[in-house]
Amino acid sequence: MGERLDSTVALVTGASSGIGEATALALADQGAAVAIAARREDRLTMLAGRIRDKGGTVLVLPVDITDEPQAIGAVERTVAELGRLDTLINNAGVMLLGPAVGAPLTEWQRMVELNVLGLLYCAHAALPHLLKAAEDSPRQVADMVNISSVAGRTTRNGSGVYNLTKHGVGAFSDALRQEVTRRHVRVSLVEPGATATELASHNRPEIRETLAQRFANQERLEAEDIADAITYIVTRPRRVAVNEMLIRPTEQEQ
Ligand SMILES: NC(=O)c1ccc[n+]([C@@H]2O[C@H](COP(=O)([O-])OP(=O)(O)OC[C@H]3O[C@@H](n4cnc5c(N)ncnc54)[C@H](OP(=O)(O)O)[C@@H]3O)[C@@H](O)[C@H]2O)c1
Repeated sequence: MGERLDSTVALVTGASSGIGEATALALADQGAAVAIAARREDRLTMLAGRIRDKGGTVLVLPVDITDEPQAIGAVERTVAELGRLDTLINNAGVMLLGPAVGAPLTEWQRMVELNVLGLLYCAHAALPHLLKAAEDSPRQVADMVNISSVAGRTTRNGSGVYNLTKHGVGAFSDALRQEVTRRHVRVSLVEPGATATELASHNRPEIRETLAQRFANQERLEAEDIADAITYIVTRPRRVAVNEMLIRPTEQEQ
């Protein structure tokens, strides 16, 4: 049995589509006030309408979290306008695949800037607030959930820099977990397998074609499946820390 999230505040990055959008909805359903961050304001506004229609509280944060002041601003506005921060879902990410030889360096820069630095800016800004929530909130526990990937556990030819960023997320998460766990901030790592979202659509056309062939007829998770796992993690009793969850579609072997 989970504990509801009434009177708590969650910030979800990358909430304008896919896993982040589904997670914001799921946490709002559990009673959390949610701050939703991403660059596409129109998509966030639509999501906010859906959350408000169900009686939820929501704050729209149109931000690019690769820009340090904007990432810090997202955390600070959440606390200023919703009153606190109990849960950070570090979800925003980009996956640009293809051979390393001849790859556009800008793609590598985009992945490192978002998957690593953007996540770190949000984590750094959020930590004092999460520690405070763990100390003085009725639940006396707070959560940071970092979204990695199967690509953070294994490597694949053509996925090197995405692998690098997601392995980095895993390493940072477990080191941070050890640092703050006695203060009841739980740091969890979620590693989804293939999930039907917009993630692959940001690749170059030739890479998209290769991916379409690879995933043709392959079973995929729904974004809601990952949102469900995240909801499970953050609704555990104070004594239970789910450190890591690796979730593949049943038919996915690697
Ligand atoms: N789908 C999968 O198969 C899969 C598998 C394993 C792991 N993951 C991970 O799951 C996470 C979510 O991805 P998804 O699959 O849900 O893909 P998605 O639908 O493409 O969602 C990515 C989200 O990140 C946001 N984002 C991108 N750049 C941003 C920036 N600079 N600042 C703020 N937000 C930004 C996007 O919104 P805007 O464009 O509006 O900014 C969008 O909301 C990622 O970390 C991804 O690596 C996905």
